[in-house]
Amino acid sequence: MSQWIPWLSHFEVKVAEIDHQHRELFRMFNELCDATWDGKGKDSIKASIKFLAQYVVNHFATEEKFMTHHKYPRLPEHKKAHDDFTAEVTDFIQEHEDKDISSELVVSVIIKLGDWTRDHIRGMDQELGKFLNTVALLN
Ligand SMILES: [Fe+2]
Repeated sequence: MSQWIPWLSHFEVKVAEIDHQHRELFRMFNELCDATWDGKGKDSIKASIKFLAQYVVNHFATEEKFMTHHKYPRLPEHKKAHDDFTAEVTDFIQEHEDKDISSELVVSVIIKLGDWTRDHIRGMDQELGKFLNTVALLN
């Protein structure tokens, strides 16, 4: 599999469930770029994008479960970042539902989603990981 959006070990936030889902997300991003570039059918690409979007929603729910359970003080702004991103992805899917999408567009959108995810992990998720490791998980 090509590393369109490489996973680097320093992205880990040291919370097993979250790290597992992050790695899985990157695997899906790369798999989707490969499938698109290999000229896989548009319907299967669209189905994969929808699956990926649902995975993202479930993943955000996992992080928010940790935040709620451990009373993370920055929950509101972290959740807002999740909600804004979800809305953007949902809009893209709805807008392109019945349209023919080019491979270039799919790859560029996936790379954009991957960039956002990487930046989000390095910022907000790292901070959450530190909180969970130093404050919450020790209690
Ligand atoms: Fe997050």
